Amino acid sequence: MKPNSKLSGIIGVGSYLPPNILTNFDLEKILDTTDEWITSRTGIKERRIAGSDEFTSTMAVKASKKAIEMAGIKPQKIDMIIFCTISPDYPIPCTAGILAKELGIKDAGGMDVNTACTGFIYGIALADAFIKAGKSKYALVVCSDKLSAITDYQDRSSCILFGDGAGAVVMTQTSEHGVIDYKLGLLGDEWEKIVIPAGGSRNPASEETVKNRMHYMRLQGREVFKLAVKYMGSAIEEILKKLEMKIEDINWIIPHQANRRIIEAICKHFKIPQEKVFINIEKLGNTSGGSIPIAIDEMLEKKLLKKGDILALSALGAGVTYGAAILKWGI
Ligand code: UT7
Repeated sequence: MKPNSKLSGIIGVGSYLPPNILTNFDLEKILDTTDEWITSRTGIKERRIAGSDEFTSTMAVKASKKAIEMAGIKPQKIDMIIFCTISPDYPIPCTAGILAKELGIKDAGGMDVNTACTGFIYGIALADAFIKAGKSKYALVVCSDKLSAITDYQDRSSCILFGDGAGAVVMTQTSEHGVIDYKLGLLGDEWEKIVIPAGGSRNPASEETVKNRMHYMRLQGREVFKLAVKYMGSAIEEILKKLEMKIEDINWIIPHQANRRIIEAICKHFKIPQEKVFINIEKLGNTSGGSIPIAIDEMLEKKLLKKGDILALSALGAGVTYGAAILKWGI
């Protein structure tokens, strides 16, 4: 990567995790499941669950404040808010508006992006495009989800996976570090694999839809598992090939934390050494788009990231969307 080329890079990171913990043993009490099954099939031991007074927006505010503080700017300097979520506070308005009010941001563009677990990859790609087009000086990418609000705790094959949390980054124009390249994918043929069947214009909410629990997420787990292994790996492979880079050139792979077995299968198939892969799924479960920025924040706290490290991020989620990004780290 040539220095001084016009790049966009991350200059602040923040995350928020609700203090409430839901363990596998807690789930054993309400479901026909066991800690042994969940641990061996997913690698998850516990997940965080937002309190009744915590929402997607309130978690995002906390993560964003931390990212903005690290960036060393006033919130009012943010001129673009990219809010990635599948559990907005309300269907209308976009959660970006609620966040803007809470942070005192008055002069910014903003939107919600509904790409589920691929939220962070799409979010930084959008920020990169706005910054490179000269349309944003400081972009805030925040991924926040209160998945517990759209999870069916009577469905043992999906509810064991999900947790709540938020991760945020501030991006600006940089020269020595930043986003090198990304790949965004959308498998429209697979859209039914992860769906909330009611509450939209096809099936507006009714007594019937609520009775049939159609306002909760439905997941074809085994099918999504196979798609995740295939596309999260191939997306990284595709960018590396384009950039004429090898897996050895990557210092850290930070995958979306969907299932430990998915991550292990990707490593095996694409011959990625596991020690290069960051995994924190055991304590957090799948937090959707937040999982990658939450992981980055934890890695910073643990001093695992060095300036100049090359990171590969990869994710797959509802849509079915998938994507990967290669970044040079600079904080
Ligand atoms: O972030 C992107 C979105 N989501 C994902 O990436 C999730 C991807 N999928 C997965 O992680 C896995 O497919 C699951 C963890 C959801 C399920 O694991 P699996 O190994 O694919 O299990 P399965 O759905 O094929 O079910 C195997 C068996 C079934 O029993 P039978 O039919 O073989 O008798 C299930 O009924 O396991 C049973 N089962 C459970 N047993 C105990 C399913 N859930 C549970 C459970 N406890 N919680």
